[in-house]
Amino acid sequence: MGKFYITTPIYYPSDNLHIGHAYTTVAADVLARYHRLIGDDTYFLTGTDEHGQKIQRKAEAQGTSPQAYVDGIVAGIKNLWQRLAITNDDFIRTTERRHELGVQEIFRRLYEQGDIYKSEYEGWYCTPCESFWLQRQLAEGKCPDCGREVELVKEESYFFRLSKYADRLLEHIEANPDFIQPVSRKNEMVNNFLRPGLEDLAVSRTTFNWGIQVPFDPKHVVYVWLDALSNYITALGYPDTADPNWRHWPAAVHLVGKEIVRFHTIIWPIALMALGLPLPKQIYGHGWLVLDGGKMSKSKGNVIDPLVLIDWYGLDAIRYYLLREIPFGADGFYSKEALILRINNDLANDLGNLLHRTLSMLERFSGGRVAAPAGYEPLDLEVQAVARESISGLEKHLGRLEIGDALASVFKLVGKTNKYIDDAAPWSLARRPELADRLATVLYTMAETLRITAILLTPFLVETPGKIWRQLGLDGDPANAWKQLTWGGFPAGTLTVKGDPIFPRIETKRKEPEAAQAPAAPPPSPAEAKTVAQIGIEEFSRIDLRVAEVLAAERVEGAAKLLRLTVRVNGADRQIVAGIAEHYAPEALVGREIVVVANLKPAKLRGLLSEGMLLAASNEQGRVVLITPEQRIGQGSRVK
Ligand code: MSP
Repeated sequence: MGKFYITTPIYYPSDNLHIGHAYTTVAADVLARYHRLIGDDTYFLTGTDEHGQKIQRKAEAQGTSPQAYVDGIVAGIKNLWQRLAITNDDFIRTTERRHELGVQEIFRRLYEQGDIYKSEYEGWYCTPCESFWLQRQLAEGKCPDCGREVELVKEESYFFRLSKYADRLLEHIEANPDFIQPVSRKNEMVNNFLRPGLEDLAVSRTTFNWGIQVPFDPKHVVYVWLDALSNYITALGYPDTADPNWRHWPAAVHLVGKEIVRFHTIIWPIALMALGLPLPKQIYGHGWLVLDGGKMSKSKGNVIDPLVLIDWYGLDAIRYYLLREIPFGADGFYSKEALILRINNDLANDLGNLLHRTLSMLERFSGGRVAAPAGYEPLDLEVQAVARESISGLEKHLGRLEIGDALASVFKLVGKTNKYIDDAAPWSLARRPELADRLATVLYTMAETLRITAILLTPFLVETPGKIWRQLGLDGDPANAWKQLTWGGFPAGTLTVKGDPIFPRIETKRKEPEAAQAPAAPPPSPAEAKTVAQIGIEEFSRIDLRVAEVLAAERVEGAAKLLRLTVRVNGADRQIVAGIAEHYAPEALVGREIVVVANLKPAKLRGLLSEGMLLAASNEQGRVVLITPEQRIGQGSRVK
């Protein structure tokens, strides 16, 4: 068993996060899920970078304290990760005591051993990037990274002796070609920053106070990047190296956006060298998700809200699009058209249709039952060969962080099987009783590729593998079946359970939400609108609608559509049985706030007591989405 510690950058809670941030975290989630599946001792960390001048100014502008300001945004970030079904093992906030103590200790050690010294800083500072620049590094007087105004800073400061370690770092980079990936980023770091020579870095500030105090000189706060980078070890217990989580160090991968590779490949490794700690195995700088006007940013007003996209298109559609569309190291354009094309072509046509065709043919030609194969012919063996290639392709690509290629590898099997069905033509075989054995083999081959596909999709998608699995009539959970990827694992005799299409096509004619706005609910059809009688407000007020918090959720055995939820409402726990199992994975619900009819008479569903009903919206394409408060408000809140 190997070990695999993966981190995302810790995000600035200066604003709500957008789809670009979601991109990094979803990618890290896929890698963490994959390494858990293959049995590695995996640890996945994300969190928030809460100090610094930028946040302090933002809070001041809102007339609130920095802590209150970040608390609100961080709650939203945690909710976003839950909605995206992110499987992080820990979430570190730099305002937590465990982190502050760790950073103070790091600062003290570096100072005591002479790697940090006091002097005076005079130079430029970019507050949005929290970055120091020398005059010669500026681009036409502006920040060379983000192009915004820089400020002249002159203050007493502690300095970190980067220069002392520059040669050792360069040697390390040259001797370990995987240390900075992709290689273009390595060249950029070496040629633009390391070869010209490193200056010592100012690592404390005195002109504001929203930061971690320098322990022996309290008018200084620690420079926010030294504070932030340390999260990767303070979250594991550092400086307490007896902490059980310390075993995860060094990280296998720090996943970061390309503009912050510099901090991670210069300041961070030098800090670790100075502390006598091993360096991370790899820093991977991925590209940006850009819109027509360039990089997404709140100040440009061109951000895409991931929650809106999830509500509108579904969780797995969004995860799939992000992972498949953009080659991981490069920049990629976000567009609604490309998203819809991916959903319609790959998910609805290729994958959805393969499942639908397979189950329909099984239903028509063998009463829904998957019989044992009766000998294989070359056509079938070709499919098996592609299945093996898909598995090895996925392993190879994920090992290199080529996430889109790994997904493409799975879809090669989907494409091959669709073609196989056309060639093997089970409908013709079904007309000739003497070919019953051949028909059984073809139907088995179809079902078996879907079983393998469902397993292979488990690192990437959250709800779809289970939906495929249940429609195939298989027991258990595809996420526990990684060891059963060898051909022939489909239990002969299984009865399939055909359900709704897993990815309804998106009608491009339908009105889409504007990028950053919440989508309007689909309007009722005129017929529907007419048949619903009007009621008075008093009648409506008899319905006690309340916000409830989902405490637990699980599938109901033998009922493919039902979930059994434990919710807390008005301070008490109750059970609600809801027909949403084909639309939501139970784990995606826990912790969320939903809306329930709290005064509905209890009823029994499949023998289970349901004490209330949750509210959900459905459209004509069969999509079902939960009604949830727009922000967390607390269980028991009245909805009216
Ligand atoms: N707080 C620092 C990181 C400290 S890590 C020790 C920071 N935060 S950030 O919130 O500004 O950005 C976090 C990550 O989100 C970065 O890796 C950044 O590249 C990524 N992204 C922000 N916008 C993005 C896109 N439009 N596309 C892809 N990634 C994007 O930097």
